[in-house]
Amino acid sequence: MGLHLHLLQAQLLVSILLILFSRSVSAKPNCMDRRGNVNIPFPFGTREGCYFNESFSVTCNDTNYDPPIPPKPFLTNSALQITSISLEGHLRVLQSISKYCYSRNGIEVINLTRSIELPSGLMINDTANKLIVVGCDSYALVSWKLRENRTYSTGCMSLCDNKDELVDDSCSGLGCCMIPIPKQTWAARVTSDSFDNFTRVSDFSICSYGFIAEESAFTFNASRLSTLRNVEVFPMVIDWAVGEENCEKARNNSSSYACKSKNSKCYKPHHGHGHRCHCQEGYEGNPYLDGGCKDIDECNNQTLNICEKDCKNTAGGFKCLCPKGYHGDGKKDGRGCIRGQSLVLKVATGY
Ligand SMILES: *[C@@H]1O[C@H](CO)[C@@H](O)[C@H](O)[C@H]1NC(C)=O
Ligand SMILES: *[C@@H]1O[C@H](CO)[C@@H](O)[C@H](O)[C@H]1NC(C)=O
Ligand SMILES: *[C@@H]1O[C@H](CO)[C@@H](O)[C@H](O)[C@H]1NC(C)=O
Ligand SMILES: *[C@@H]1O[C@H](CO)[C@@H](O)[C@H](O)[C@H]1NC(C)=O
Ligand SMILES: *[C@@H]1O[C@H](CO)[C@@H](O)[C@H](O)[C@H]1NC(C)=O
Ligand SMILES: *[C@@H]1O[C@H](CO)[C@@H](O)[C@H](O)[C@H]1NC(C)=O
Ligand SMILES: *[C@@H]1O[C@H](CO)[C@@H](O)[C@H](O)[C@H]1NC(C)=O
Ligand SMILES: *[C@@H]1O[C@H](CO)[C@@H](O)[C@H](O)[C@H]1NC(C)=O
Ligand SMILES: *[C@@H]1O[C@H](CO)[C@@H](O)[C@H](O)[C@H]1NC(C)=O
Ligand SMILES: *[C@@H]1O[C@H](CO)[C@@H](O)[C@H](O)[C@H]1NC(C)=O
Repeated sequence: MGLHLHLLQAQLLVSILLILFSRSVSAKPNCMDRRGNVNIPFPFGTREGCYFNESFSVTCNDTNYDPPIPPKPFLTNSALQITSISLEGHLRVLQSISKYCYSRNGIEVINLTRSIELPSGLMINDTANKLIVVGCDSYALVSWKLRENRTYSTGCMSLCDNKDELVDDSCSGLGCCMIPIPKQTWAARVTSDSFDNFTRVSDFSICSYGFIAEESAFTFNASRLSTLRNVEVFPMVIDWAVGEENCEKARNNSSSYACKSKNSKCYKPHHGHGHRCHCQEGYEGNPYLDGGCKDIDECNNQTLNICEKDCKNTAGGFKCLCPKGYHGDGKKDGRGCIRGQSLVLKVATGY
């Protein structure tokens, strides 16, 4: 009786531990895995020992409020607020808009230049983001910093005479202008300006706005000319990868190889620097942590529901079983379980 109770308690403890463990699988042990609404998986972390290196440190705005508000995580000590981190090598941040506004009475109201500087190993995603400029007597200049600290400058401009000629959902030079982000960019400075202080368009456009933003998060229409004045930030996608070495070189050196999980694989990021990891097929979790990739229990997934009869989970896969007297692959979308012995078996036992 006593032993039975102990067993029950032990089972309970094991299941509680399992729940706790599977919840925090994404961060290192004893590390915060969540700030506000944002998950913080390793290689990111909030303090030394929790992140891979300083490039992946997350700082939090922990000012005490009454009533309390959710803490905001920032990338290193920058002003870039993190809204999500994905283990596929991306993170989304909020990034400030550069503005130049001029008031009718000739007193300059706003002139805000914005700079972004990413920690080493992180880059502005060049396919998801664009440089966007909005205004009708407007341009923005950007100076970019690429790898090896090569620098260059570009710009984009938009001129129009009339609010009525602006086209909704179109950013092709009328009130809105858009250019691509150069590859391998880690820093940018955006300055907005006007050609003529909005002299001929001041009825409907008295501001120039320039910003790097996720293209899908911005749609243009005429009301943007005035409403962007009250907008401070836009989302931007950042790419991350680990280390300076590619997979082959890093694998040679366990201290620089980031794919710590036994069931992980290394792959090369699009931007070509460092390496990234993912879990092997049939596993899920955090490939950057020792033991981070866990076997997926395909049999316990109601939505998958693969097997016609019995399902047996295996390391990295599963098997469908057919009862005695049946043959086939047992899969619902395969041959299933067919009554009778298989032909091969019949032939084999026929003699
Ligand atoms: C933290 O929050 C306060 C109050 O909202 C704000 O003034 C301050 O700039 C924030 N710090 C950072 C790093 O954003
Ligand atoms: C706006 O500020 C930037 C630097 O802060 C300066 O270079 C630029 O000349 C200013 N623009 C105007 C129109 O004053
Ligand atoms: C690039 O510039 C940053 C600071 O702006 C500096 O820390 C870094 O060492 C430079 N890198 C190279 C390769 O010169
Ligand atoms: C616009 O106004 C600013 C501030 O009054 C002035 O410095 C600048 O020269 C003006 N630019 C043009 C093109 O008139
Ligand atoms: C313009 O776009 C903004 C943001 O997408 C939207 O909220 C607003 O309703 C649009 N206005 C018009 C007139 O389409
Ligand atoms: C931190 O990691 C990044 C990316 O893996 C790398 O580029 C950077 O050089 C590392 N920084 C230090 C101080 O080791
Ligand atoms: C890995 O290390 C071995 C022995 O140290 C060396 O022969 C090999 O060239 C290295 N491979 C790479 C890709 O650096
Ligand atoms: C292995 O990587 C570490 C950290 O990046 C570096 O300090 C060390 O020199 C590397 N060792 C070899 C043999 O390349
Ligand atoms: C940019 O992000 C998208 C997903 O948002 C991804 O498909 C693409 O590969 C990324 N670009 C680079 C250079 O990593
Ligand atoms: C079941 O499998 C589907 C498809 O792979 C996946 O999206 C879902 O998250 C799984 N559900 C559970 C509870 O693991």
